Amino acid sequence: MGTISQIQIEELERSHVHIPDRERVMDIIKQMKDDGPDKLQVVADFDRTLTKFTHRGSVCATCHNVLEESGLPKEYKEKAYAIRDKYFPIETDPNLSIEEKIPHMIEWWTQAHDLLMKYPLSKEMLYNMVANSSAKLRDGCTKFFDKLHASDVPLLIFSAGVGDIICEMIAQHSTMYDNMHVVSNDLDFDDNGKMIGFKGELIHVFNKNESAIHDSDYFTNLSHCTNVILMGDSLGDLQMANGAENVKAKLTIGFLNTRVKDSLELYKSKFDIVICEDESLDICNAIVNLITGSS
Ligand code: C5P
Ligand code: MG
Repeated sequence: MGTISQIQIEELERSHVHIPDRERVMDIIKQMKDDGPDKLQVVADFDRTLTKFTHRGSVCATCHNVLEESGLPKEYKEKAYAIRDKYFPIETDPNLSIEEKIPHMIEWWTQAHDLLMKYPLSKEMLYNMVANSSAKLRDGCTKFFDKLHASDVPLLIFSAGVGDIICEMIAQHSTMYDNMHVVSNDLDFDDNGKMIGFKGELIHVFNKNESAIHDSDYFTNLSHCTNVILMGDSLGDLQMANGAENVKAKLTIGFLNTRVKDSLELYKSKFDIVICEDESLDICNAIVNLITGSS
């Protein structure tokens, strides 16, 4: 039994939570608890990780979908949805390798961004687009942000979505604290607030290993945070903390939101903990609460 008996997290016993090597996971959590919040950092994906895949049975918007749902002409929405319907099944196909998916993902993001450029998006439209959208933070997300902030635990939100939408969503539905840092595809605006493109290198769902964040000061400045919790819903998310330094303990938590039957074994072979079809952050909150010493 090793250290298993010393750690009790009722949420990990739920039937939709899969832990292939329970003893190892309990040892990692115990180590993180012993080291305390000062040694902890969290790296989380945004779409379908901090946000819901479904809410009461209906599929929720991703960052890109927020731009598509309202505010711009119907024609844009139809064209964007047609692109999404072609590429989303490729993104989530458990029978294709990441290498096979990458060219399709580059095509998806490129086509979607090129299409968006043809329509008159402005900075001032973002507030209403987010307010009117079906995008939702997971239940318990605000508690999660509050707790990490109260315990001074750095949170990197690393997303292939749209940075401006992430910041607006968090501002409207929760709090963007100073321990939080967002790396994503940021919109570029001219002096009149008209969108003129995206800034920097394109981030798609499978190139998070290549991001400049890994070579930046971000992880170097956190080299004392030797314990890393990584949360994602895509196998590409597993590379998000590649730049982290001096890592002593790493816990990977995967949200499996769709094609559960087909993908469960694959996800179990890659993530330490796999959470299936859950609209909340209950499991992550329970783990963070234990590590930070609160309930
Ligand atoms: O935050 P995250 O990295 O998860 O954001 C990427 C997600 O956005 C992908 O999983 C993809 O399904 C979605 N996406 C979208 N429309 C696009 C491009 C990506 O809904 N045009
Ligand atoms: Mg995601």
